[in-house]
Amino acid sequence: MTDLYPVPADFAARANVTAADYERDYPESIRNPDAFWGRIAGRLEWMKAPTRIREASFDREDFHIRWFADGELNASVNCLDRHLATRGNKAALVFEPDDPSGEATHVSYRELHARVCRLANALRNLGIGKGDRVIVYLPMIVEAVVAMLACARIGAVHTVVFGGFSANSIAERIRDSGAKLVITADEGVRGGRRVPLKDNVDAALKLPGTNSVATVLVVRHTGGAIDMQQPRDRWYHAVVDGQPDTCEPERMNAEDPLFILYTSGSTGKPKGVLHTTGGYLLYAAYTHECVFDLKEDDVYWCTADVGWVTGHSYVVYGPLANGATSLVFEGIPTWPDASRPWQVVDRHQVTIFYTAPTAIRALMREGSGPVEKTSRKSLRLLGTVGEPINPEAWRWYHEVVGGGRCPVVDTWWQTETGGILVSPLPGAWPAKPGSATRPFFGVQPGIVDAEGKLLEGEAEGNLVLLDSWPGQMRTVYGDDKRFFDTYFAAYPGMYFTGDGARRDADGYYWITGRVDDVINVSGHRIGTAEVESALVLHPKVAEAAVVGFPHEVKGQGIHAFVTLVAGETETEELHRELVAHVRSHIGPLATPDILQWAPALPKTRSGKIMRRILRKIAEGAPDQLGDTSTLADPGVVEGLLAGRRNR
Ligand code: WTA
Repeated sequence: MTDLYPVPADFAARANVTAADYERDYPESIRNPDAFWGRIAGRLEWMKAPTRIREASFDREDFHIRWFADGELNASVNCLDRHLATRGNKAALVFEPDDPSGEATHVSYRELHARVCRLANALRNLGIGKGDRVIVYLPMIVEAVVAMLACARIGAVHTVVFGGFSANSIAERIRDSGAKLVITADEGVRGGRRVPLKDNVDAALKLPGTNSVATVLVVRHTGGAIDMQQPRDRWYHAVVDGQPDTCEPERMNAEDPLFILYTSGSTGKPKGVLHTTGGYLLYAAYTHECVFDLKEDDVYWCTADVGWVTGHSYVVYGPLANGATSLVFEGIPTWPDASRPWQVVDRHQVTIFYTAPTAIRALMREGSGPVEKTSRKSLRLLGTVGEPINPEAWRWYHEVVGGGRCPVVDTWWQTETGGILVSPLPGAWPAKPGSATRPFFGVQPGIVDAEGKLLEGEAEGNLVLLDSWPGQMRTVYGDDKRFFDTYFAAYPGMYFTGDGARRDADGYYWITGRVDDVINVSGHRIGTAEVESALVLHPKVAEAAVVGFPHEVKGQGIHAFVTLVAGETETEELHRELVAHVRSHIGPLATPDILQWAPALPKTRSGKIMRRILRKIAEGAPDQLGDTSTLADPGVVEGLLAGRRNR
């Protein structure tokens, strides 16, 4: 039996989407997507209204995905200009700095418009135009939002790289995207610690294949000492100050690219997920309004960094397209202590709060004290994203943080999906802790078994989507084949999510986690193959296998099994060196939690590493190893189990 959390009556009475709305519109959105999305498209401001709506086929012979293909618009106009007449003085952004004693600032729609236009003009003067790629490697500061929208204004394609990624990861993204310009800052600050952003860019640009970058714009943020290399490096303020504060927006086709965002897959290097302008923006805006029940006077705070898709869709594009006030937080939730988020909520009277389960678990670990010393009266809705939330954390969030008053929306989606696909609509149906509940308008999830057969009713299997939705990614940048092979080859005619799911008797979906070689560490996706290739780059490593294991706070942790080159010795020092090597190669987020020496790895007779067995060893479940009869040398497993116990 699971407990059911009904919609509070006063919430339902004012909800943007009621149960009746959903029961009426959801079936229509599936039956007649052209009529449904054609109507919803009217909420954007188009330079040329679309007459073509949905054009999509997931079949190999006729594969294509297009939405609003003859429409024209500009995303920055939709996020800024459109609001000037009615919301010019409304805060578009509230900036809360890392340092709690620092000054919070408000940026009105009028001011944000002017700042975006100034940077857009500066970028044009630097030779950036429609279709050019721009890397944004910034902390969570107002300039990050300005940079994204300035690119959108001139039709440049932004590629935001999370500030926690290393020089090597930046270089990889420059190489793949062919970016011409990088926007960064001298340093970032998170949890009181400085992040050497400009130094990382300098190091990246020394690596091979990065000389497409002609210009680096540097925001002076901390004032820390950095090298400026002439003529490549330019101070942001020097090129932006004095620019006109209006800028003619580029006319973009709905299917012109808006951004590329790299994300980890189960194989090889990260994929450049490409999103286009019309469908993405509409989907981000419409889901934001419905799922977060957005009202004109809300103060909305999504804690995600703009380096992730959640920051793109639900810090920047969704909220700003809707004319909302979006809070930009530079810091981390647990610094200086675990009451920080709630102090920020009180200070800015935040009404909607959206974060990741890993943050909730980290805060929960500190007990209810830090929460209860704050008011949080302003809150009316809570959300989570990024990984499955355990019911215990859900209840703590609901009861302690929300005082039992606020509905919780557990939103399931992916970088690839552009926006939320399965989630409660908070005024429409009851929640069950741990379930993302039901599909959004126009979204048709399905559950398939291992043979790809669609299962009806109550079922468990792999989660697929049976038809396109406007926010769907359009391709892997520069690699259409990889796009098709990754998502559409496993189950013909369907999009495969990489997640497992269960559907219960009420038609509610329960996401059970990744079924591929992607692990989800603190809500951040990491491919096991990426960590493995980083490890084997080290001259003393012969072979490495990486798996996830359940981690109390992070959701999943990283367990690396490492075999050294013959003749090398397993020392404490080398252990530290290898952990540091992964950190510096990919970024701190990929740091192995456990690195275990593996004199040998469990392999089949044909030499394939048996990850299933490594996962069980990492989980500490030796009784669940399953069939080990195909192992070339069963003794290997005994050795690893003993190694784990002695760790
Ligand atoms: C997982 C983040 C359970 C899932 C928006 C998905 C979730 C991956 C949820 C995408 C949720 C995201 N419940 N699992 N509410 N939300 N996931 O691309 O495994 O960073 O495939 O996008 O996170 O991660 P990504």
